[in-house]
Amino acid sequence: MTVVASFCMSLDGFVARPDDSVGPLFDWYQAGDVEVPMVGYPIEFHVAAASAGYLRRHLDAVRHGAFVCGRRVFDHTHGWGGHPPGGGAAFVVTHRPPPAGWSAENLAPFTFVDDVGSAIEQAEAAGDGTVGVSGPSIAQQCLNLGLLDEVRIDLVPVFLGEGVRYFEHLDAAKAGLERVEVVDGEGVTHLRYRVHYRS
Ligand SMILES: NC(=O)c1ccc[n+]([C@@H]2O[C@H](COP(=O)([O-])OP(=O)(O)OC[C@H]3O[C@@H](n4cnc5c(N)ncnc54)[C@H](OP(=O)(O)O)[C@@H]3O)[C@@H](O)[C@H]2O)c1
Repeated sequence: MTVVASFCMSLDGFVARPDDSVGPLFDWYQAGDVEVPMVGYPIEFHVAAASAGYLRRHLDAVRHGAFVCGRRVFDHTHGWGGHPPGGGAAFVVTHRPPPAGWSAENLAPFTFVDDVGSAIEQAEAAGDGTVGVSGPSIAQQCLNLGLLDEVRIDLVPVFLGEGVRYFEHLDAAKAGLERVEVVDGEGVTHLRYRVHYRS
């Protein structure tokens, strides 16, 4: 099982503005002519040809897997209306109970877990594909715990100046990165790195 974190990131290292909006970081998802349906959530991307193959392969990898996210991403997206990315089981890392007033149907894919390691373990058991990690704080904790196998970056050539960082609070000496793929898209460069942990 491969545990993968994937974020759109500005050139200065941010995945969102201080108000949690992503601004121009998601523009490339709708900047081309090739339609790529999202897996699990009912939207279509329209990307440049250079990005389409990369995006399809990423979405195929998570199709039969499970998803782990932090509570802020869950709250910010309103739980994707009950349709989390990947379409399978989803694990929300949080100290709090599930939100009140949600329908049982919208909450059905989600399990609320108060420990990152346990969330990853349960996600690995729940699917037979890639485990996707969302929420930079969760990705950082996974890296520090030696649980993250792959770091993906959709690098967008803009400066945000401030906001939410992809990489922060890292035990940087613990992990090394091996480049496995670079795809030069239009308005975005897709980067994949395998993580190697030093003992
Ligand atoms: N650019 C992109 O591709 C992209 C994609 C997705 C998200 N984002 C951005 O990412 C930001 C959200 O990420 P984030 O890192 O700030 O938050 P996050 O990881 O989604 O959630 C953090 C919250 O999760 C809970 N949590 C985290 N670690 C925990 C632990 N070990 N045990 C129990 N609960 C734990 C805590 O919530 P409680 O204590 O309140 O329960 C914590 O406040 C947003 O700005 C969003 O726009 C960007």
